[in-house]
Amino acid sequence: MASLRLQGLTKRFGDVVAVHELTLEVPSGELVALLGPSGCGKTTTLRMVAGFDVPTRGRIVLGDRDITADPPERRDCGMVFQHYALFPHLTVEQNVAFGLEMRGLRRPDVERRVGEILERVGLGGLGRRYPRQLSGGQQQRTALARALVISPRVLLLDEPLANLDAKLREEMRFYIRSLQREFHITTLYVTHDQAEALVLADRVAVLMNGRLQQVGAPEEIYHRPRTPAVAAFIGLTNLLPGRVTGRSGERLVLETPAGTVRAAGAPDLREGMEAMLSVRPEHIELDRPGEPASRDGVNRLRGVVQERTFLGSLIDFRVDVGGGVLLRVQGRGGAPQRVGEQVSVSFDTTAAWALPRREG
Ligand SMILES: Nc1ncnc2c1ncn2[C@@H]1O[C@H](COP(=O)(O)OP(=O)(O)OP(=O)(O)O)[C@@H](O)[C@H]1O
Ligand SMILES: [Mg+2]
Repeated sequence: MASLRLQGLTKRFGDVVAVHELTLEVPSGELVALLGPSGCGKTTTLRMVAGFDVPTRGRIVLGDRDITADPPERRDCGMVFQHYALFPHLTVEQNVAFGLEMRGLRRPDVERRVGEILERVGLGGLGRRYPRQLSGGQQQRTALARALVISPRVLLLDEPLANLDAKLREEMRFYIRSLQREFHITTLYVTHDQAEALVLADRVAVLMNGRLQQVGAPEEIYHRPRTPAVAAFIGLTNLLPGRVTGRSGERLVLETPAGTVRAAGAPDLREGMEAMLSVRPEHIELDRPGEPASRDGVNRLRGVVQERTFLGSLIDFRVDVGGGVLLRVQGRGGAPQRVGEQVSVSFDTTAAWALPRREG
């Protein structure tokens, strides 16, 4: 296996800078998720790696070889496109065989490898069908088989689960993950779905407006986002403006419109700086006012329940904590609080994360 390195990769389409100075490494055998909203440059990045778009600037290095100028067929990339792009007039077998025939393999070898990979992705017996005779999940696995059958050095996946319904998408996440681990294949996985990125990736690279915002392990991206834009994009969070007024041991002290809050903070935050506080809804607890004794390491605010929504396993609350701040809180199914009720709102000082306030 080989590592994939993108160095200062830039792509302009006329005035549009689709990708700006992207530097990113996918270590050998790892899965890196390239995550970002629609139009942020994900597909453009993959197309440059696969050789379908020529970078305006920058280099692409696979293993120890610079492939920036190589034609697609010499790059050893297996790609699954955003919309599968199976050939409609070819059967499953013929679709999967295509890349091997292009490479001039002999007929018996093609048949053997196609048979093996179709078994492996659970499509044994469906080889004679046409794409229109397959379910979405089967089409998706055909596209995966077609990418894997050439034994690529790197696998490029562009929103491979986007066309599937929610339940199948969840199953396929785990399936792709185990396939990727088994083949131990260097993978760049594009998605706009943060849950998918967190589940699948060894590391997540967050891209916005063509610029890389942050690269890190899923936990790090989720709990320690580096910008308010990343915090807001990855999962649900409450963002409160605040100003750093001091320190209390390990924690920063912030004045917010809802009161004083202690929080963990990004290392570059200093006293006097404007900050943004991120608190995840699942880290906040609601109690009767004044009931539990105040504890060290816990922030406590007073609030009034404004809304309560049943979400199945969770109850979603909007709680007015004063100063014009509505906090989103998600509690377990049994949460008894009612609309209009006064509550005590608490969250650990470690669960509050302060970030420098800059325009994302
Ligand atoms: N051939 C092109 N000509 C001009 N602009 C383009 C071209 N291809 C892409 N763009 C622009 O480049 C930007 C990035 O597009 P890209 O397809 O890479 O986004 P994406 O992150 O894959 O989005 P999505 O999640 O919707 O698939 C967009 O603003 C898009 O309009
Ligand atoms: Mg795209």
